[in-house]
Amino acid sequence: MSRLVVISNRVAVPSARGAAGAQGGLAGALDAALKKKGGLWFGWSGEESADPAAQPSTQVRDNVTFATIDLSPQDVEEYYYGYANETLWPLFHYRLDLARYELATGRGYERVNELFADAVAPLIEADDLVWVHDYHLIPLGENLRRRGVKNRMAFFLHIPWPPTRLLVSLPFHQRLVRTLLEYDVVGFQSGEWLESFFHYCQRELGAKVDAARGTVTLEGRTTVARAYPIGIDFDHLTSQAQTGEARQMAQRVFASTRHRTAMIGVDRLDYSKGLPERMDGVARFFDRYPDRVKDLVFIQIAPPSREAIGSYQQIRTLLEQKTGQINGALSQVDMVPIRYVNQGHSLAELTGVYFASKIGLVTPLRDGMNLVAKEYVAAQDPDDPGVLILSRFAGAAQQLTEALLVNPHSPDDIASAIRDALDMPRDERIARWKPMVECVRRQNIQQWTADILEDLGGRAGS
Ligand code: F6P
Repeated sequence: MSRLVVISNRVAVPSARGAAGAQGGLAGALDAALKKKGGLWFGWSGEESADPAAQPSTQVRDNVTFATIDLSPQDVEEYYYGYANETLWPLFHYRLDLARYELATGRGYERVNELFADAVAPLIEADDLVWVHDYHLIPLGENLRRRGVKNRMAFFLHIPWPPTRLLVSLPFHQRLVRTLLEYDVVGFQSGEWLESFFHYCQRELGAKVDAARGTVTLEGRTTVARAYPIGIDFDHLTSQAQTGEARQMAQRVFASTRHRTAMIGVDRLDYSKGLPERMDGVARFFDRYPDRVKDLVFIQIAPPSREAIGSYQQIRTLLEQKTGQINGALSQVDMVPIRYVNQGHSLAELTGVYFASKIGLVTPLRDGMNLVAKEYVAAQDPDDPGVLILSRFAGAAQQLTEALLVNPHSPDDIASAIRDALDMPRDERIARWKPMVECVRRQNIQQWTADILEDLGGRAGS
């Protein structure tokens, strides 16, 4: 059986500072995949050091070797904060207004990708399947090829792929995208992002695209490009939902909201998540239906993220202003309409909050997939499930079509959906929830891994 080599910016090894608190979909997903096949997970330790060692430090746990390197402060500044999160992240989330194009950070991005290649290439064995993750590491495959790595390699993009008209604003965009075609398999979260990728390859690179087969051919080399919608670890989540931690949390929510319906939002504090726009929607609901202020309590969990970046500081200030305004205007001595929580929570605790919240409000302005939507569905009570309100601009909206789909830019749309969710009869809630939970159960993280590894040439579990 081939080993699996996973390469990502962050590695969820217990000693890697920053990994635990910042686990997006990526960390949880990879943990499951690696434990099953065995192999190596390589990436940044999350640590800065003035003179980082070139050799990775390693530790072995459950069949998996974790190998990490530290980065210098300049590398973190230019590669992680700079190019990855102030250039690619906003651009790929359609936020050209926030994207910064600086030569220095571009060079830092290339330098760290070379550094990663130098450090990981000697650890790759002949039969290994190599799987690179996310926008931090797009050129890594090409760097590995230049170092003689001939293994089958896949790349998965966890975030959206932008429309060609936006992507061409990126200096050296062709150079970046061409490196993707050095992988054997390139995966996207949804058909929409895949379509944009095909469009770019055809129009800007003159590549031959066979959309039906899912291939892109350029200069005699063919890459498989497909949509592989990521899922959650359904069994793990449902087992977490049975824990005392989960039950206790559900109890806390029930006890403190008693005669009101709890509505839950859980997001990293990121401008792509549409949090100020969501608050506008909630405020519009309270404006339009003043007699229903007493019926609803909105709990927004929003752990801060990438706090060194100005646009993240600004979005936090804006969100705090809006939340403060709504609460100031509508609170009573014994009632606060919005609970705004910056603290992160364990998955077990979250399942308890999801269970106790009869509305899940997930309204990103743009999102590769959004696993909170899937977690919310999976954690519901089958006899009395809650209602999912979901942005049509999240990748998850292409699968969870029975949710109340909204335009997250429209406060009126969000307000109407909240009213519909509050008034929805149990029969309709069950009828909408059933196909969604079936989809979340079936298209789970194990299936996702198996699909990609099958296309990469090594069946999961074989
Ligand atoms: O989903 C995209 C992503 O960058 C993940 O790779 C990551 O786990 C999450 O967002 C959190 O971001 P960061 O690693 O920058 O804290």
